[in-house]
Amino acid sequence: MTVRILGTGSCLPETVVTNDFLSGIMDTSDEWIASRTGIRERHLVKEETTAQMAAEAAKRALEDAGAEASDIDLIIVGTITSDHVTPSAACEVQDIIGAENAIAFDISGACSGFMFSLHTAYAYMQAGMSKKALVLGAESLSRIMDWNDRSTCVLFGDGAGAVVLGADATGLLAFDQGTDGARGKVLTCPGRLNNNPLVQQGLQQGYVQMDGQEVYKFAVSTVPASIQKVLKKANVRTEDIKYFLLHQANIRIIQSVAKRLKVSEDKFPLALDHCGNMSAASVPVLLDEVNKKGMLKRGDKVILAGFGAGLSWGTALLEW
Ligand code: UT7
Repeated sequence: MTVRILGTGSCLPETVVTNDFLSGIMDTSDEWIASRTGIRERHLVKEETTAQMAAEAAKRALEDAGAEASDIDLIIVGTITSDHVTPSAACEVQDIIGAENAIAFDISGACSGFMFSLHTAYAYMQAGMSKKALVLGAESLSRIMDWNDRSTCVLFGDGAGAVVLGADATGLLAFDQGTDGARGKVLTCPGRLNNNPLVQQGLQQGYVQMDGQEVYKFAVSTVPASIQKVLKKANVRTEDIKYFLLHQANIRIIQSVAKRLKVSEDKFPLALDHCGNMSAASVPVLLDEVNKKGMLKRGDKVILAGFGAGLSWGTALLEW
């Protein structure tokens, strides 16, 4: 017995921001953004919150799975942009969808957040601690962007994706995940400073800072190696994989991974052109788009891979 994805859902904010719009407010261009990254537009929150988007994605995933909120006994949200320090986004999702039988918590794994959450839910279920779980990736990344830093703010978008997990004879077949904290400084976002009667370091606005080239080098070497490890663990050949659903950071990273694995780029569906990089939400939103387009049939083998800040990475092989 393993754990299978029974349904998917996603939710993007209503407002679309194009590269041309950004060119009107900062020194950038559609040509630079599209040719360097593949991104043409992204959705940004106005009134929406991380928890609202996550709850909507969760409702859609439940509907797709034919499950009720009351069936869910575990909710995990991968996010670095929950609306509050506490309660977590997962607690808010539990309340909004009425999953009163679930325990709920967030995982801070940045762009690997959904993959870490998926693996954690899998472990709970294999240990008999959960029978039906909701796993999400949800971000309002635009909140933590420095909108005066064109090298980062044009890359990211907001959104949420969800999957429902249940026990089945097939499904999640193998995982690989890792962390390299020693290289963490290449992609950071500061938190709160010490503030108590002994020391007051003041309020600090925390924005994402990235050494893009270092993250790029990390991604193009680590992701193919992680995928190969997972395939080896499950004794599955690269050519048996129908789709590789990668974190949507940059089309050039995806092309490089395809080349290193000697796989056609056609097997790497994309959402980054219209979503940008949504950190933990990238993989589940892409999976939902692929599922809802009817591109998957029972028995198809699919790779999911997230990677980024930490540095961190997580890969899973599943049979649909
Ligand atoms: O989700 C977490 C994982 N993150 C990633 O995987 C990101 C990985 N890294 C990347 O995708 C790429 O490194 C970037 C897309 C972030 C940057 O691409 P790059 O080819 O590494 O560009 P660069 O940083 O070397 O910058 C090249 C030039 C610079 O100008 P000079 O110094 O050559 O005159 C930048 O100032 O491009 C300039 N530049 C821009 N120009 C127009 C940087 N941002 C922009 C911009 N518009 N938005």
